[in-house]
Amino acid sequence: MKGVILAGGLGTRLFPLTKITNKHLLPVFDQPMIFYPIQTLVEASIKDILIVTGGNSAGDFLRLLGNGRAFGLKHLNYTYQEKEGGIAEAIGLAEHFAEGEKVLVMLGDNLIFESIQDEVEAFKRQRSGAKIFLKKVQNPKAYGVAEVKSGRVLNIVEKPKKPKSDLAVIGIYMYDNEVFDIVKTLKPSARGELEVTDINNAYIGKGTMTYSVLKGFWADAGESIGALAEAGRRVFEYRTKRSK
Ligand code: G1P
Repeated sequence: MKGVILAGGLGTRLFPLTKITNKHLLPVFDQPMIFYPIQTLVEASIKDILIVTGGNSAGDFLRLLGNGRAFGLKHLNYTYQEKEGGIAEAIGLAEHFAEGEKVLVMLGDNLIFESIQDEVEAFKRQRSGAKIFLKKVQNPKAYGVAEVKSGRVLNIVEKPKKPKSDLAVIGIYMYDNEVFDIVKTLKPSARGELEVTDINNAYIGKGTMTYSVLKGFWADAGESIGALAEAGRRVFEYRTKRSK
């Protein structure tokens, strides 16, 4: 299975920090934000990784990450998203890279501490379809929210005004190769983007979506400046605890 990390966008929610640089290059405690999702993928034994970047400072990713030697990789792949077309459009750019394989897509501003290796292995065995991760949160309105019943996801609503649950869809998605056909059928949402939630709802409609609930820490560090600061604080706490 191949890995795709999305690191484009203008990061407007983090202005002025992102006025002259890309959100995913900002520090989260002692590392640039993009380091965390790369580590998550490498720890799950996904070593063929594509970074999709765009907007500000795209060239800085090459300077920062090179061929991924700091992560034990021999090679990294890069591509460029020309417009702010949304997460689903960025996923579409990975079609040639995927070469028919399943893909794990992780948003470059999402941070987790636990290993997802078991879920990755389970998805390799899943015949087709998709798998998402859910996490109980206090502010579901800020995310895609899943309604779940009897072990199945019934639907996902993107940033609902009246959330039907407190289960956020976190930014780690596993898809079979059909995802690239689904992306081609999508229409832009009210905010003018192709939405990852529409991809996920397409899989739910086909009855091939599975999910797993994440137990440990999760942060969407790009959600707000407060979330970025909180993510840094949590990484600091986690590191200090582990080194004691
Ligand atoms: C995106 C997705 C949303 C998901 C979130 C997780 O939102 O659209 O469904 O819950 O990532 O980080 P964004 O942060 O791009 O607004």
